[in-house]
Amino acid sequence: MIRVLECAACGAETGAERLRNLCSACGAPLLARYDLAAIADRWSPRDLTDRSRGVWRWREVLPIEPGDTPLSLGEGGTPEVASRSIGPALGLSRLAFKDESGNPTLSFKARGLAVAVHRARALGVGHLAIPSAGNAGSATAAYAVAAGLPCTVAMPADTPAPILAECRLYGARVELVDGTIADAGAWIRERTAEEGWFDVSTLREPYRLEGKKTMGYELAEARGWALPDVIVYPTGGGTGLIGMWKAFEELEELGWIGPERPRMVSVQATGCAPIVAAFEAGADRATAVLDPRTVANGLKVPGAIGDFLILAALRRSGGTAVAVEDAALLDGARRLAAEEGILASPEAGATVAALPALIGSGIVDPGDDVVCFVTGHGIKYPVLCDSTAGGVSSTG
Ligand SMILES: Cc1ncc(COP(=O)(O)O)c(C=O)c1O
Repeated sequence: MIRVLECAACGAETGAERLRNLCSACGAPLLARYDLAAIADRWSPRDLTDRSRGVWRWREVLPIEPGDTPLSLGEGGTPEVASRSIGPALGLSRLAFKDESGNPTLSFKARGLAVAVHRARALGVGHLAIPSAGNAGSATAAYAVAAGLPCTVAMPADTPAPILAECRLYGARVELVDGTIADAGAWIRERTAEEGWFDVSTLREPYRLEGKKTMGYELAEARGWALPDVIVYPTGGGTGLIGMWKAFEELEELGWIGPERPRMVSVQATGCAPIVAAFEAGADRATAVLDPRTVANGLKVPGAIGDFLILAALRRSGGTAVAVEDAALLDGARRLAAEEGILASPEAGATVAALPALIGSGIVDPGDDVVCFVTGHGIKYPVLCDSTAGGVSSTG
């Protein structure tokens, strides 16, 4: 049960009993806060033994009333697959892939949308609206079906065709917008008030973050309440990274882990790397990229509303931000398929592409426990089969 919503920037508190988007005082994202001391008194890892895996395993720290049935299509509880080829080839003895591709709608976006749509329905929403680079749109569309709600998805015109088809099959209204996800967001926001929609854009409502944070809880549980040394995360809006960082703070407050943290690494595409530029410049906020270019649709986010939270987590953790070329991220995705048996999206390929630079800079040591996030399935991305994409002339 949530105690209050707290602004991530100004700290203003507001009640969680009503639908909220951003902080009414300063316009920054709102974070769900729980009475963790009270929760720790009545909840311990022992209580998890007879619970099924998945996002709602963590219901004490999610926005659900006691006794309520969670909205679920079977999200979360994903495997960590030990690398059999890429890790050994790089001299890494403990590289694993947190494989999110088996989620409903084939990406990690299912976690956040399960929780956000559950909460939106509980608070009386009549119509969901979302701008998306792809996977968040199809996840919203699927959970809208599960919740019995109509939904409108605005997407850039270059969204992969299989994802558009997926959204339409779920019955969503799909609006194609010229430009990037930022333009799709503007299209949604121009209509939200008039149409009576509820906007579930990333970090513009508090609960997608809550669903995504469960990735952090799962990493800790898998290690007997310890954390990996390094987490490599393909970053667009950064909700998963911010969510995991929040999960680690909550776990420490619950007394389930200590103060140690993984080095958090954001990977972006060189054609759209606002977080990398800000990290390198020592800035607290990122400057929006004017002409974003990358084949990795989920990384084509010119400016993230949670940029200051991403940058703070990277710095506090001793991590970093790196950019990789499109050819390298496509090659990373192809290697995941050919060498590991994991059909991964281009965004996930970026984490593999970043590893040599991370080893070279000493962020990753050979014996480290390293987790790369395979955030989505490759089957939705025809570009992976296009031998000319990203300057790659041959897959070797
Ligand atoms: C497969 C995939 N990976 C990574 C991302 C980026 O995720 P985030 O916005 O949490 O940074 C997206 C976003 O669309 C995505 O679809």
